[in-house]
Amino acid sequence: MIRGKFITLEGGEGVGKTTNLAFIKDYLQQHNISVIVTREPGGTKLAEKIRHLLLDKDGEEISEQAELLMMFAARAQHIKHVIEPALAQGKWVLCDRFTDATYAYQGGGRNMKISTIEWLENLVQGALRPDLTLLLDAPVEIGIERARKRGAFDRFELEKVSFFEQVRRAYLLQAELHPKRIKLIKANQPLADVQKAIVDVIHPLFGLCPSHGVVKGVVK
Ligand code: TMP
Repeated sequence: MIRGKFITLEGGEGVGKTTNLAFIKDYLQQHNISVIVTREPGGTKLAEKIRHLLLDKDGEEISEQAELLMMFAARAQHIKHVIEPALAQGKWVLCDRFTDATYAYQGGGRNMKISTIEWLENLVQGALRPDLTLLLDAPVEIGIERARKRGAFDRFELEKVSFFEQVRRAYLLQAELHPKRIKLIKANQPLADVQKAIVDVIHPLFGLCPSHGVVKGVVK
């Protein structure tokens, strides 16, 4: 059984992750790829409970350390019960956020030590890293404006603009550090252009799977 590919989608608030996640899922399915769509924090019953605690703005104050550990506790469950089994069965996994979000939000936003995040990443993930990460990037004001239109804010969305500036910088640094894995997509351009850029970076992944060149009976 050929192992599936692990694709993650990242970006700050309001950059269009949801729309583009649905687009990528459809695109992969049109190429006869069996894909599961999941998210972090979340993806299992327990991890979704942890997500609820993390996003709840009315609970007790969550310390930075507790926040970081809860992200990785949810991730450990998600990897063991969803991500690894799916990849082993040859399914592709499309995940809304993963560990780059921890570098961006807890590392950049909360100023937590990068070496601590790296240590937890190695502990929880072993050798598991995404095969491809799409980073949707837009100026912070644009994202916040879009997120605001969606209505009720969660605990992260209530943060100051400076927090999101730090998150964005940390994401861009991750992209610089891992240029092969992380592909930067400009999110503040027409949707058709965003999606063309997405297709351009996803396509090379098909290279190792010749059968995936078939779209609805037409050989590409
Ligand atoms: P979202 O997936 O609906 O955007 O919400 C998840 C929130 O959790 C988002 O504000 C980013 C934050 N987050 C972290 O702070 N660290 C992480 O490792 C992950 C996966 C998400």
